[in-house]
Amino acid sequence: MTRDDDRSNKNRFATIAVGTAETNTRLDRGGTNDVVPPIHLSTTFEWASGDDGNKHDYSRESNPTRAALEEQLAHLEGGEHGLAFASGMAAISTAILSIVPPGGHLVSSDSIYSGTEKLLTELVGGHFGVDVEFVDARDPENVAATVDSDTDLVWAETPTNPLIRLCDIRAIADIADDYDIPFGVDSTFASPYFQAPLGLGADIVVHSTTKYLNGHSDSIGGAVITDDDGLFEQLAFAQRTGLGNMLSPFDCYLVARGLKTLPARMEHHEANAMAVARFLEGHDRIARVQYPGLESHPQHDLACEQMSGYSGMLSFEFDGTLIELEAFIEGLEVFTPGASLGGVESLVEVPSLMIPDEVSHGEATAEIPETLVRVSVGLEDADDLCEDLETALP
Ligand SMILES: Cc1ncc(COP(=O)(O)O)c(C=O)c1O
Repeated sequence: MTRDDDRSNKNRFATIAVGTAETNTRLDRGGTNDVVPPIHLSTTFEWASGDDGNKHDYSRESNPTRAALEEQLAHLEGGEHGLAFASGMAAISTAILSIVPPGGHLVSSDSIYSGTEKLLTELVGGHFGVDVEFVDARDPENVAATVDSDTDLVWAETPTNPLIRLCDIRAIADIADDYDIPFGVDSTFASPYFQAPLGLGADIVVHSTTKYLNGHSDSIGGAVITDDDGLFEQLAFAQRTGLGNMLSPFDCYLVARGLKTLPARMEHHEANAMAVARFLEGHDRIARVQYPGLESHPQHDLACEQMSGYSGMLSFEFDGTLIELEAFIEGLEVFTPGASLGGVESLVEVPSLMIPDEVSHGEATAEIPETLVRVSVGLEDADDLCEDLETALP
């Protein structure tokens, strides 16, 4: 699927994102005709003799507001089943821990969000004794060389946080398929608008809905989508009965509201990110810009093949000392220095300054350069963003 071929699907995506009258009316609107479905806060639901078991009974197990969001998330990813979690990490940990047994074997891309890295090394590896192997997944041969018939799960992030590396989803899915191993993809940076891993052969897709799906930096949440009935049953049991880490009705409402503008926001994020990336690429104090939309990105061709757009995340290496870099960050007025990403406001994060304990020095996972700056390009005016960088850069 190329960028252009996929454009024809964009209208359908937008219709699902906004929610049609049909999907909205699946929610019980309490006898009113609200265009915005109500938030069902009730923890319990009245039982009546003769109930056929299809209704909700207790909100940890299922809730009307959550069920509607989960159905919409599944549609947006082109999948069968969706689950909404209390955070991206809740989604990732539930997926991994319910698939990989203690003492099992997991192969993961070595460029990965620092929270997932900690989960894999300290909890999954350290506590549950899973043999976790990190590989440079930019080359699928590295995955092929590490996977064997005892592997329980292949895991990858693409594009990655914060190095903006890609992996070939279809090639890795084929390798996992040869061994009948599930393959999970964290597609948070792309959003379902620009990347559809299930269509490329992945078995599970996860998102931190905290980022683009909610999009307004006011809700922590996560999602898992799968086509596989067996995996869905396993994960739903772990979430609803065992771990109880589902998304609250109010946060479900916020994510559903965010989804309505996802296509419009993603188009704007991408256009702004391209403008910022080109500006940075031309600046003499910037050593390297990683943005999949730039021809200079080593995996630009792969981005064109497997993504229908390049999203709003980029990173760059500042050519100077950490002290100069700190002064540059402090000089920014439109960009806000801070963690997280995918919201309407532009954010910059320097991992070595802001989260030094979590920065990978390249022992197991990919090294994060000291002067790397990660940028979440928001929806402000692109000229203001570039001028802000120009003014603050030495
Ligand atoms: C790629 C990626 N996956 C997962 C997460 C975790 O999401 P959350 O903070 O919602 O738990 C993050 C958070 O930054 C992320 O960047």
